Amino acid sequence: MPTKTIERPKDFWLTPRDIYEYLDQYVIGQDRAKRVIAIAAYNHFKRVSANKEAGAKGYKLPLLKKSNILMIGPTGCGKTHIARNLAQIMEVPFVVADATEYTEAGYYGKDVEVMVGELLYAADMDVEVAERGIVFVDEVDKIARRGSGMKDGSSGRDIRGEGVQQALLKLLEGGKVFVPYNITQHWNKHDFVQMDTSNILFILAGTFTDLYRGGRTRPAGFGRGKENSAVKSAEERISVEDLQRYGMLAEFVGRVPVMVELEELSESEMVRIVTEPPDAILKEYQQLLSMDKIELDFSEAAIKEIVREAKRRKLGARGLRTIFEETMQDLMFEAPEMVGKKVTISLSDVRKKIGRE
Ligand SMILES: Nc1ncnc2c1ncn2[C@@H]1O[C@H](COP(=O)(O)OP(=O)(O)OP(=O)(O)O)[C@@H](O)[C@H]1O
Ligand SMILES: [Mg+2]
Repeated sequence: MPTKTIERPKDFWLTPRDIYEYLDQYVIGQDRAKRVIAIAAYNHFKRVSANKEAGAKGYKLPLLKKSNILMIGPTGCGKTHIARNLAQIMEVPFVVADATEYTEAGYYGKDVEVMVGELLYAADMDVEVAERGIVFVDEVDKIARRGSGMKDGSSGRDIRGEGVQQALLKLLEGGKVFVPYNITQHWNKHDFVQMDTSNILFILAGTFTDLYRGGRTRPAGFGRGKENSAVKSAEERISVEDLQRYGMLAEFVGRVPVMVELEELSESEMVRIVTEPPDAILKEYQQLLSMDKIELDFSEAAIKEIVREAKRRKLGARGLRTIFEETMQDLMFEAPEMVGKKVTISLSDVRKKIGRE
């Protein structure tokens, strides 16, 4: 007897593999993170679709709870980069919020509801569409509770740390909130709309540098050597307790059940970042110079030197662009006078430009 096939509803045709493969073009390395994000995004489609159906029939699906995600990794390893690329393919509204811009309600700074307001804006003010969006909250480690020993002369109320975590709890958990209807202007108290955050997926990210694990000082995400194994051993993994010790509230961490650690990028991964993705820096400059009819290339040693310099500056992949730009400056200036030439940047060219020769 032929087995009955269940057709996948049309509106979640992006499978985890589709999402992973798309991310894989633009995000080098960070395999585990790409997988976790792909699965979460797919489940988000499922949940939204199932809840929509159930809602139309007038009941609720208690089983399909959202699984907010926390990404932890060193600076310049691709946390925001993954989020931005995910935004490109998601068919739901997607916003990136910076946790440091928010304060506890009533204080100078944005209220966390503005995150949802921005989602509404991204959804062309369609509440129903916005209610299935994704909010990426960057720099969450900056809203850790301030150490009790800190003396900064303030009243002691932690309006940017614990206060923001408290305010975020409701959004993370899913509930009805009042959202400013027009985030682009100053609003008065009538310009609010009620929104349900039950189906809004939150992806949080932070570096959590100097995270203490098991009493040993060990910076987060720097555990290299085992990056090819799919699962980390228990003592390698950052635990809920580690995050609490760092200053995250238990209730906060509890609402973010999926945690993924990103690794510091290796030299060979950084070389690939410069050369491989469709939007690679090298390709970008080649295109820029081709408009001056100049054929640009870099020797392998030159690219490796740029990578080594980025490592020295401890900026992760973020440093690559800066160093690349430093290397290219004179050439960019002279380009219009060099029409028709072929230029290959050598190791010594790079060393001169970055002042290491
Ligand atoms: N894994 C990666 N693959 C490709 N490019 C990357 C990767 N990681 C970083 N980059 C490049 O480096 C830039 C900086 O990375 P990104 O902004 O994602 O860092 P981050 O992990 O968010 O760091 P921070 O904690 O400082 O915010 C990106 O815009 C991207 O161009
Ligand atoms: Mg970032």
